[in-house]
Amino acid sequence: MKSLIHIDNIKFSYDEKEILKGITLNFNKGKFYSIIGPNGCGKTTLIKNISSLLSPNKNTVFIDNKDLISMKSKEIAKILASVPQNIHINYEFKVYDVVMMGRVPHKGRFEGYNNEDRDIVKKSMEKADIWKFRDKLVTELSGGELQRVIAARALAQDTDIILLDEPTSHLDLQYQIEFLKIFKDICNDKVIIAVLHDLNLVSLFSDEIIMLKDGEIIDIGEADKVMTRENIKKVYNIDVEIYNDNNKRYILPII
Ligand SMILES: Nc1ncnc2c1ncn2[C@@H]1O[C@H](COP(=O)(O)OP(=O)(O)OP(=O)(O)O)[C@@H](O)[C@H]1O
Ligand SMILES: [Mg+2]
Repeated sequence: MKSLIHIDNIKFSYDEKEILKGITLNFNKGKFYSIIGPNGCGKTTLIKNISSLLSPNKNTVFIDNKDLISMKSKEIAKILASVPQNIHINYEFKVYDVVMMGRVPHKGRFEGYNNEDRDIVKKSMEKADIWKFRDKLVTELSGGELQRVIAARALAQDTDIILLDEPTSHLDLQYQIEFLKIFKDICNDKVIIAVLHDLNLVSLFSDEIIMLKDGEIIDIGEADKVMTRENIKKVYNIDVEIYNDNNKRYILPII
């Protein structure tokens, strides 16, 4: 099976400083991937290279066998949706209209929205539990409510790839779980890549975990393989205890 996303030895620097130091990865449909690692290790930089917010070098990021840098932004938006780490919307848009923007990549230049668009937008908003906010202005939402709006927009975009950069950072525990469940449920025929910090949620939800440190992959694989005391010590410099219950792993810091 060909990977939907193939990253070949990606290197990326801001100014002189090398942040990604040669990362090679493949992402296949049907899997929920998590990227973990300490602050500043390059997670967002990697996500931005995949979403073309930053420009990777030629021949380093391939989506559906096409070099990302040869793809037009509309073509990318049809296949890839992104929920960024920091969301700022300063305009007084209605929540409904912001989610509807997810449909733009599927529309021709002067084509209006149709019932199919309205249907997918409503369903996406219901999944993210924000239908009740449809007439509110996005500037009047809490951080967590806004995060759910942007997630609904990503769902409405109806893409094969969804990138989530700390999508649960503003969410309460109930919504953190519900939110990850939404994306886990739809990952059968998609690639979901989430940057997450909560190692327990990562262990519960991920099919594959990519552990980064200083712009390099330290380990990659299922929770059993990656979430070890040794790896966590190496990457976060903390001691943890790991408990197994019913095939699930729970990680508790020793303080
Ligand atoms: N626009 C920029 N210009 C210069 N340096 C940057 C820029 N953005 C990020 N960096 C630096 O690149 C490094 C990696 O940043 P990145 O945002 O990828 O980290 P991260 O792993 O996502 O961290 P966090 O967990 O804090 O979100 C950091 O040292 C950061 O200071
Ligand atoms: Mg980040």
